[in-house]
Formats: sequence, C-alpha cells, structure tokens
Amino acid sequence: MRGIRGRLTVSFTIALLLALGGFGGALYYELKQPSVIELDERTALEMKFALNWLQGSYRLVGPLVVARDSMPPTLNAGISAAFESSRDYLVIIGERQQPLFLSEAARNLEFGAIDRLLSEAGRATVAGRTGSLELDPALSVRYRVTLTDSAGPGVASVLVATPLDNLTFDPALILRAMGVVAPLVILLAAMLGYWLAGRALAPVESITDEVDAITDGRSLHRRLAVPLSADEISRLALTLNRMFARLEQSFGSLHRFTADASHELKTPLMVLRAGVERALTHPGTPPDAIGALDETLEQINQMSEMVDNLLTLARADEGRAPLAVEPCDLRDLVAEASETAGMLAEGGDVLVTTRMPDHPVPLPVDRHRIRELLLNLITNAVKYTPPGGRVDLELADAATDVTVVVRDSGIGIAPGDLPHIFDRFWRADPARSRTGDRPGVGLGLSITKWIAEAHGGSITVQSRPGRGTLFTVTLPRTAGQA
Ligand SMILES: Nc1ncnc2c1ncn2[C@@H]1O[C@H](COP(=O)(O)OP(=O)(O)OP(=O)(O)O)[C@@H](O)[C@H]1O
Ligand SMILES: [Mg+2]
Repeated sequence: MRGIRGRLTVSFTIALLLALGGFGGALYYELKQPSVIELDERTALEMKFALNWLQGSYRLVGPLVVARDSMPPTLNAGISAAFESSRDYLVIIGERQQPLFLSEAARNLEFGAIDRLLSEAGRATVAGRTGSLELDPALSVRYRVTLTDSAGPGVASVLVATPLDNLTFDPALILRAMGVVAPLVILLAAMLGYWLAGRALAPVESITDEVDAITDGRSLHRRLAVPLSADEISRLALTLNRMFARLEQSFGSLHRFTADASHELKTPLMVLRAGVERALTHPGTPPDAIGALDETLEQINQMSEMVDNLLTLARADEGRAPLAVEPCDLRDLVAEASETAGMLAEGGDVLVTTRMPDHPVPLPVDRHRIRELLLNLITNAVKYTPPGGRVDLELADAATDVTVVVRDSGIGIAPGDLPHIFDRFWRADPARSRTGDRPGVGLGLSITKWIAEAHGGSITVQSRPGRGTLFTVTLPRTAGQA
C-alpha cells in the first residue's frame, strides 16, 4: 500500500497481530503449567495408592507374581482386582520388562500405544519420573513411572498415566479459539485503522489541496483556513500562512522593483532615442559617425522593447495588466500578422503562407495583446528559419475554441530545451549575441504565454531540431471573460 494512510494501516495491523500472538502464547503458557501440575498430582496419588497396595499385599500374602507352566507370569488375580476400578492407565511391569498387569483402559489401547506405554515404563527410575507422551494422534497422556523393590520378587516398576484430555481446563482450546477469532478481529481492526488513519490525515489532504491552489503564483494573497483545534494541523496551517506572507512580501517587492525600474528607464530611453535620431538627421553629423549612431539607435530600440516587455510581465505578475477586451474578427489580426511576416521574410528568402476560414472568426479579445502574441511567434519563426525555408500560419475555429498554428521549417529546438523556452530571458544559445543575425533577449515567448493564459487559453510547442517548430495557441470561445 502506498501513502501514509496505507503504511499506518499495515503497521497497525502487524502490531496488533504480534500483540495478539504474544498474548495468546503467554496465556497458553501461563494456563498450561497449573493444569499439568494438577494432572501430575493425580498420577502421584494413584501411584501412591498402587505402591501401598502392592507393598501391603506382599507383606501379607508373600510374592504377588503368579507363573503357571508355559503361561507368561501375571499379577495375582486377587491383588489386581483392586486396580480394575482405575479409570486411568495402570501398568505393572515385571523383572524382565514384561507386563504383569494392564488396567482395563490400558488393555483397550491399540497395540502401538501399549508398546509406547511399556517402553516408557521400561525407563523407570527409583525416584520416579513424569512426562507427557503421545500414544496416538488423538490421545496424549501425562504419565508417572517408578521403580519399586518393596513389592516382592517379580514386580519391577509401576506406570500410571492419565489422558491430557482430563485437564479440567485445556489451554490449547484458547489457541484454537484465537485462531478463529483473531483473523476477524484483525480484519476489523485493519478496516477501523484505515478509516481512522484517513480521518486523521484528511486535514493534511485538504491543506495540501489549498496550498496547491495558492502556489499557482497568482494567489499568494490567499491564506489557509486555520482549524480551531490548536493541534499539529493548526500549527502547520499557521506556519504555512506565515510562509505565504513572507513569500508574498518578497515576490511583491521583486515585482515592484522590476516594474519601477522598467518604468523609470522608459523616459531616459525615449530622450536617448530622440537625441540619436536628431543626430542622425542632422546635416552636420560627420559621415563616419553615422554608422555608430545607427548601431546605437538599434540598441536603444531593442532596449526600449525589452523594458516594455519587462514592465508588461511585472504588471502581469502583480495582476495589474488588465485586458482591453473587445469583439473582433481574428482573421483580421492573423492577416495583419501574415503581412508583417511577409515583410520580415522578404530579406531572408523564406516563404510565408496563411490559411484561414472563409467565414469571420469572432472572438472577444484584447486586440493589441493578441497582435503582440502573433507577432512574437512570427518573428521567432522567421528569425529561426534559414533561407529557403517556409513559415505557415493557420487559423482554425472549432466548436469550443479557436486555434492559431505557427509552423516553421527552421532550426528547431532540442528536446532538452523545450521545457525552458517560455522562461524569462531564456535563449537556446546564451552565447549567441543579443545583436547578431538573430537578435533578442528571450522575453518574447514569456509574454506570449502570459497573453494566451490571460485570455484563458494555452500555448503548446512541438519541435524537432533541424526539421522545424510548431506553436499552437488555443483560445477558448469565452476568451475575454477569463
Ligand atoms: N520558431 C523557433 N524555432 C527555433 N527556436 C525557437 C523558436 N522560437 C523560439 N525559439 C527558441 O526559444 C528561445 C526563446 O524565445 P523568445 O521568443 O522568448 O526569445 P528570443 O526570440 O530569443 O528573444 P525576444 O523574443 O525576447 O526578442 C529563442 O532564443 C530560441 O532559442
Ligand atoms: Mg522571440
């Protein structure tokens, strides 16, 4: 089983199993001892009676063993009559280890069982010996055997045995009863344990769900509901809430700093650009300075674009980048984008094609943002497609959503790079100059993704190095209400 809940249930059940096993074993052992002692007392009493009877009889009437002609020797019938009333197994053994007398119970035993009794009797000691013996699978006895020399010639030893069934209370019954009851108890306990573990962990589950919802990045202002119970769970919730507060604060200052910095940079950049443009058009500017000024202007333009993008992202992070949603026909925006692509591709010898439905594709969107999204994708497609390649733009509308596909036959993206392309400032080859033939800073796709998501849509990418790349933007019909 996986998860804390499963593990708790398993360990709880194993613990219960061990406890029940230990309890049963201990109970069995504790109860067994007094019961055996009880049986031993019983055989001792019978042994005492038998020995006393044999000795007394010998003193009164002389030798007790009768040996007639070819018959095996037996105990004097008058003497043995006293033993016939015994309900237990009583065996009297002669000098040559032959049985002189068997009580009725002993005579009724199977041959094998009698043999086992006799061989036990053969190992008698003077002090007497007790033990347990299995006569057959269904019958175990507790026996006592003693050597005797005061019962006259011919009599060697006496064995008394009584079935273990005679225990007034049989502890083995406990084990058997536990064998039946324990699986039920354990099953019940496991089910109860699983339920209890689930109940105990439910608050953790709900906190996990809430934290998941909060850490999507835009909900850091939300807090967990703290249970009133003042237990571990409420402490956890309080601690997480404090962590969210700190995270919110640091994210807040980071966003604010980026927003403020990019905002503050806008004006100086504008002044710079105006200055350079003026210098470029000024008749007195020496011709050899024109090249440097051109370069400067290009850098300033790129920097302005980057500052704009940074400001947009910082505002989006703060939730301060509202969409100006208005109804529009997406075909217009795609046509515009296609025109731009054509212009961009002109110098690079790249073929641009566009496919759109014949009917209008109305969708409430932020026209400027969607235009920006398309432009970013198209600029990338043209930028990363070598001469002789092609860029295809496709608009399709389905029942629930509208998709825009930008496909190129360019250099493609390595599989290991794919997860990073939407990261801010990420570029496949960081060593590549930000100017060069493929200029950029790596913010385009971050903005594109934000625009798609702000409209309730999504963007996906498929790419094979050397074969091309395909971006798919999906906008739901309810795009503007997201
Ligand atoms: N169509 C494409 N073909 C191949 N690689 C691409 C494509 N589009 C994006 N990439 C890779 O993903 C990176 C990130 O793209 P992104 O648009 O965010 O940045 P950029 O184009 O380098 O710079 P910026 O768009 O900010 O001017 C690119 O540097 C490039 O390595
Ligand atoms: Mg780009």
